[in-house]
Amino acid sequence: MTSTELAREALPQRIRRKIKQGLGPWGVFFEGFLRNPVMVGSIVPSSRFVINRMLSRVDWPNCRLFVEYGPGVGTFCQPVLDKLPRDGTLIVIDTNPLFIDYLRRTITDSRFIAVHGSAADVEDIVRAHGHEKADYVLSGLPFSTLPDGVAPAIAAATYRVIRKGGAFLVYQFRPKARSYMARHFKRIEDSYELINVPPCFLWWGWKDEDEG
Ligand SMILES: C[S@@+](CC[C@H](N)C(=O)[O-])C[C@H]1O[C@@H](n2cnc3c(N)ncnc32)[C@H](O)[C@@H]1O
Repeated sequence: MTSTELAREALPQRIRRKIKQGLGPWGVFFEGFLRNPVMVGSIVPSSRFVINRMLSRVDWPNCRLFVEYGPGVGTFCQPVLDKLPRDGTLIVIDTNPLFIDYLRRTITDSRFIAVHGSAADVEDIVRAHGHEKADYVLSGLPFSTLPDGVAPAIAAATYRVIRKGGAFLVYQFRPKARSYMARHFKRIEDSYELINVPPCFLWWGWKDEDEG
């Protein structure tokens, strides 16, 4: 912004910009929530307790492709990149262009790919980036508030895209997401994390080696 543009900027806009700058990624997340509360579904990013617990069951040395749905401002992205092997890839998919633009500007790791699109198209997205299957898929999507039919379609596409031995990692404030997972994943492990706003459920849906 030039100094003339700054001087002309209306007071409410100026206040909003200052708050956003002061809050850093939290400000970008909050703005994303204000623009699309139903799709974002939360006003603050996940806590490090959720992140650590959710990622603790991943077999990192054997992970080549990790996919994340709904990364928001990238709360999970750096922790995933820190654990991912050097020849691994992290593909994140979000419907919110504000978040994708922010992630592309702030994460410069060559293993990182940010896609503006829907998790329902995960199979096409994975194939477009040269992969057949994903080892793990992580989801922070607000399953219970997604438009009709979207959550079941995402659960089905996710089951198809995960390799045998891989898993679907889901964290959610409401228990509903588990029922979408259970239509496809026979073995689901459950947990709960209290230190988060609000506390949330965690599930790992495993696609076992002996599945069809
Ligand atoms: C609760 S936020 C998750 C934030 C972040 N993962 C965290 O842990 O702090 C949900 C995210 O899902 C995204 N989203 C909603 N519907 C989606 C869809 N069909 N495909 C991909 N992303 C979607 C929203 O734009 C938002 O970034």
